[in-house]
Amino acid sequence: MKSLLLLLATATHFAPSLVLAKQPCPLYGPLFPKPSSSSGTTLLQHPAVKSAAASLDEIFPRYIDNDNTTGSSHFSYSVEVFSGATDTPLWTHYWTAPNLGGFNSSGVKKVDTNTVYRIGSITKIFTVLAFLVSVGDKVWNEPVTKYLPELKKLAEQTPGGSMMVPDWEEVTLGGLAGQTSGLTRDYALLGELSYEAPLDALYKIGFPPLPLEEYPPCGTVPTCNREQLFAGLAKLPPSFPTSTTPAYSDISYALLGYVAERITGKDFKTLVTDTVLKPLNLTHTFTSKPDDALGIIPGNRYSTSWAFELAEEAATGNMYTSAGDMSALGRAIMRSTLLKPAVTRRWLKPSVFTSDPKSTVGMPWGIRQLDIGFNQSFQITHAFNKLGSLGAYTSLLAIIPDLDIGFSILAAGDPPAGLAMDIADTLTATYLSTMTTVARTEADRLYSGQYRYTGNITVSIPSSNSSLPSNSSSPFQPPKYTNTTLPSTRQRLNSSLTISTSTSSPGLIIKNWISNSTDMSFYAVAIGSNITDEYLDKIKPSVRLYPTGFEEPLPDNKPGKRVAFKAVFEDLSLPERKPGMQMGTDCATWVGVTGVVYASRPLDLFVFEVDGEGKVRGVENGALRVVLDKVG
Ligand SMILES: *[C@@H]1O[C@H](CO)[C@@H](O)[C@H](O)[C@H]1NC(C)=O
Ligand SMILES: *[C@@H]1O[C@H](CO)[C@@H](O)[C@H](O)[C@H]1NC(C)=O
Ligand SMILES: *[C@@H]1O[C@H](CO)[C@@H](O)[C@H](O)[C@H]1NC(C)=O
Ligand SMILES: *[C@@H]1O[C@H](CO)[C@@H](O)[C@H](O)[C@H]1NC(C)=O
Ligand SMILES: *[C@@H]1O[C@H](CO)[C@@H](O)[C@H](O)[C@H]1NC(C)=O
Ligand SMILES: *[C@@H]1O[C@H](CO)[C@@H](O)[C@H](O)[C@H]1NC(C)=O
Ligand SMILES: *[C@@H]1O[C@H](CO)[C@@H](O)[C@H](O)[C@H]1NC(C)=O
Ligand SMILES: *[C@@H]1O[C@H](CO)[C@@H](O)[C@H](O)[C@H]1NC(C)=O
Ligand SMILES: *[C@@H]1O[C@H](CO)[C@@H](O)[C@H](O)[C@H]1NC(C)=O
Ligand SMILES: *[C@@H]1O[C@H](CO)[C@@H](O)[C@H](O)[C@H]1NC(C)=O
Ligand SMILES: *[C@@H]1O[C@H](CO)[C@@H](O)[C@H](O)[C@H]1NC(C)=O
Repeated sequence: MKSLLLLLATATHFAPSLVLAKQPCPLYGPLFPKPSSSSGTTLLQHPAVKSAAASLDEIFPRYIDNDNTTGSSHFSYSVEVFSGATDTPLWTHYWTAPNLGGFNSSGVKKVDTNTVYRIGSITKIFTVLAFLVSVGDKVWNEPVTKYLPELKKLAEQTPGGSMMVPDWEEVTLGGLAGQTSGLTRDYALLGELSYEAPLDALYKIGFPPLPLEEYPPCGTVPTCNREQLFAGLAKLPPSFPTSTTPAYSDISYALLGYVAERITGKDFKTLVTDTVLKPLNLTHTFTSKPDDALGIIPGNRYSTSWAFELAEEAATGNMYTSAGDMSALGRAIMRSTLLKPAVTRRWLKPSVFTSDPKSTVGMPWGIRQLDIGFNQSFQITHAFNKLGSLGAYTSLLAIIPDLDIGFSILAAGDPPAGLAMDIADTLTATYLSTMTTVARTEADRLYSGQYRYTGNITVSIPSSNSSLPSNSSSPFQPPKYTNTTLPSTRQRLNSSLTISTSTSSPGLIIKNWISNSTDMSFYAVAIGSNITDEYLDKIKPSVRLYPTGFEEPLPDNKPGKRVAFKAVFEDLSLPERKPGMQMGTDCATWVGVTGVVYASRPLDLFVFEVDGEGKVRGVENGALRVVLDKVG
């Protein structure tokens, strides 16, 4: 009986021109190990990193600073590219607007790594991080009413909510952090017209005059106090039922700040200072306006918003930081300095979709899918971004954890619209390929080569002749293991493999995988695929290794470590799916992970032994249970 697989393969003979070879489908995650932290200096010296820096040194002055069409005389900016592998930035650039001197400003005269800018909504990253450090993420599904009595009261007044009243019992803490609370953007502070324009002018353009008590009693000047804020919240209709669609909400973060205060007993500013700023030694980061002399103030202290205090809404946008500190924050997130790695892994995931399939929303991230390249589909990674904007200040923090890099972009003055994102796009275009090259060449240097069984060590061989009692009622009896020594004088176990990398395809590529004289690549693919006999000789096996994130020290305090990779076994002879067929996918190798085990050990597990000097000594396949030494 022909399998579906074979039918597909046959069908392709009739329309060969439509058929594209199947592309490798990596597991989601880094395609190569991150360049390790011990190679921080190596990273800075890497030719690709130096060449990226040299080209940016040329591009930024030419296309931004000295280009008289960009308006660069009216804005200043600090940009840094950082890596989790080293505290030294990979590249920095600071530009001071020539017009800054004309403002008689009480701030800095020249911007650098320590210059303090307002960061607006990047504050939300500090809010979530402080929350995760002090409370954790186990409470994300709890209702906000559990912590804020004012909202509990509102919930009791309108149980279940309505079109005009949020269903407060269903508004969760995770919903507040992940922008799925369904709440509106803000109360009175941002977007409230009656605070942004004279009422007369509003009437003229068609807004109706209202009784005075209908207008918020507070907003920007003065800002609302806590009581006014909750009174206002009682009047604001929700945008959506919870978890319907992302809707950016500043007020959600103000509420999250209140919840953090309630749980920890510390006010928001103290909480952020104690849990994030002090532990990370962020000496140029502030929850309230610092000394003017530390910051860039491109004009009047108030009209630039330098001195504007968001008060009750501090948790959503009141903070100040420098490029150097923002880089340190990004590194700390990627290194999981303040959180357990498992919490960081949960944090750096999307919480909801958007209409752009390449763009999702996290806490408080805007997440972008980035195509890594190789001229193929399926090689993607994600950047976790947060933009901030307040008065004369625009900022952006981006991290790309899979590549272990990030960008800090801070601008002040009168920049062209989209400057921060344009800079981020330029840096991404440069560093995606740079860091992929670095990771690949580093992986190539470490892992590529020949591996062969060289020992006469003792291996475990299952004996098919069980000596278990024959009266056992179970038809399945565990095999009995005996240890057999293969003396070096007899035939040495014929097992070997080679590893390489390619600039045009992902992962560590395994070729010539022989186990005890057998072509193991072929069987690994065939066993996992349930294919018919006729099709067997058409298989084009592909075996690639991807990092799992598992690393552990060698036993007995030996210097070095064991590093685990997962293999993906694919048959690249299969055709691509027909265009227009939307339910299937050509890239679902995650479903096949560890589809084949031999006596409880995965055939797709490869564990490398790395010695104290960072040299790869050998590799052991989980199922095959022999160490192949790296011999070349
Ligand atoms: C394997 O394929 C055959 C047909 O080729 C089918 O009858 C059988 O159910 C398949 N087994 C599994 C586990 O999919
Ligand atoms: C911008 O520079 C170009 C070339 O240096 C010059 O021709 C042009 O007049 C300048 N424009 C302005 C507005 O200064
Ligand atoms: C500049 O600022 C200082 C202090 O803020 C003030 O005393 C001085 O008058 C200002 N100078 C001008 C020209 O505005
Ligand atoms: C904290 O940073 C400052 C510089 O901003 C530095 O002088 C100081 O040594 C650092 N402290 C620690 C404990 O790293
Ligand atoms: C991608 O394709 C272009 C043009 O076909 C080629 O110049 C480039 O080298 C390719 N890149 C990689 C990484 O293979
Ligand atoms: C292989 O066997 C020889 C002789 O029995 C022994 O001297 C040697 O140590 C063994 N090598 C290993 C790696 O076990
Ligand atoms: C198991 O052992 C019995 C007796 O020692 C022998 O007759 C039989 O052939 C063995 N079976 C296998 C599969 O080796
Ligand atoms: C089966 O073997 C066990 C020992 O392994 C023994 O205790 C038991 O009595 C045996 N049962 C029968 C029915 O022979
Ligand atoms: C086989 O050898 C390993 C160590 O190499 C030992 O731990 C195990 O007990 C041995 N098994 C048997 C059945 O002798
Ligand atoms: C190697 O394969 C032969 C059969 O071809 C088998 O008898 C032997 O036990 C195998 N040895 C190992 C160590 O796998
Ligand atoms: C090992 O096995 C491979 C594949 O069967 C074979 O081509 C090769 O000659 C063998 N090598 C030795 C030394 O037996």
